[in-house]
Amino acid sequence: MSDHIPTRNPGEIAKLKRAGEVSARILLEVAGFVKPGVTTAQIDAFAAEVFDREKCGNAFLGYAGYPGHLCVSVNEVVVHGIGDSRVVRDGDIVSLDVGAVVDGWYGDNALTVPVGNVREDVRRLLAVTEEALYRGVEQAKQGNNLADVCGAIEDYVKPFGFGIVRDYVGHGVGRKLHEEPSVPNYRPHHRLPHLKRGMILAIEPMITLGTYRVKVLPDEWTAVTADGSWAAHFEHTVAVGAHGGEILTERPRTALPEQLGISL
Ligand code: MF3
Ligand code: CO
Repeated sequence: MSDHIPTRNPGEIAKLKRAGEVSARILLEVAGFVKPGVTTAQIDAFAAEVFDREKCGNAFLGYAGYPGHLCVSVNEVVVHGIGDSRVVRDGDIVSLDVGAVVDGWYGDNALTVPVGNVREDVRRLLAVTEEALYRGVEQAKQGNNLADVCGAIEDYVKPFGFGIVRDYVGHGVGRKLHEEPSVPNYRPHHRLPHLKRGMILAIEPMITLGTYRVKVLPDEWTAVTADGSWAAHFEHTVAVGAHGGEILTERPRTALPEQLGISL
């Protein structure tokens, strides 16, 4: 069942790591640019400059016609937001999703930035979504089933009562942005493949304060929550390892649940 999922050898993983490191660097630099008063178009333009400076390829620009240099998704936008005239305000959250290509190898990562003074329940949402990502990464080890990754995310998030987005999922990544397998953020009903060392997964929980249901705006990209509730998105590219996922898009964590008094 896992025959069609590529496994990468250590030399290939080193190349993926280079793409992952560039992806993480760009993501963090753009995150530092987000502040009250900037438009999402300005964030996109800043990302374009950083990509130029890094001299790497852009995994999203032109992908299936996607027009942005990154995805920039504010508040109720779950994913695939396109930079436009929307102004970022104090108290908003901005999800940034960045994919870089280096020597034909892909990296993909995302995080949600709190802007200024963000409501307590929203900060909890960010901390829980980021922790959910790491719960998934921990399970990305050889001998596990992919369902262990998906289930760890679902099991961690469920008690908080947040919405777990189902229409968008993580994915394999490597020589293309999207490879096999799909990586849902919940235990699916069908059987999932066993994990082998060297499989590369983009794990990306998308979690909301309300419904799990999303709708796509007429631009055919922007996915918003059906009830207008706010959403968070954290993503890493990881290699399945002997004892857990090796993160190829390493970055510091932002919000630790214990700092918000959330018990794990
Ligand atoms: N991280 C998202 C994904 O892997 C971003 C894709 S944006 C797209 O699907 F424009 F490239 F589709
Ligand atoms: Co992705």
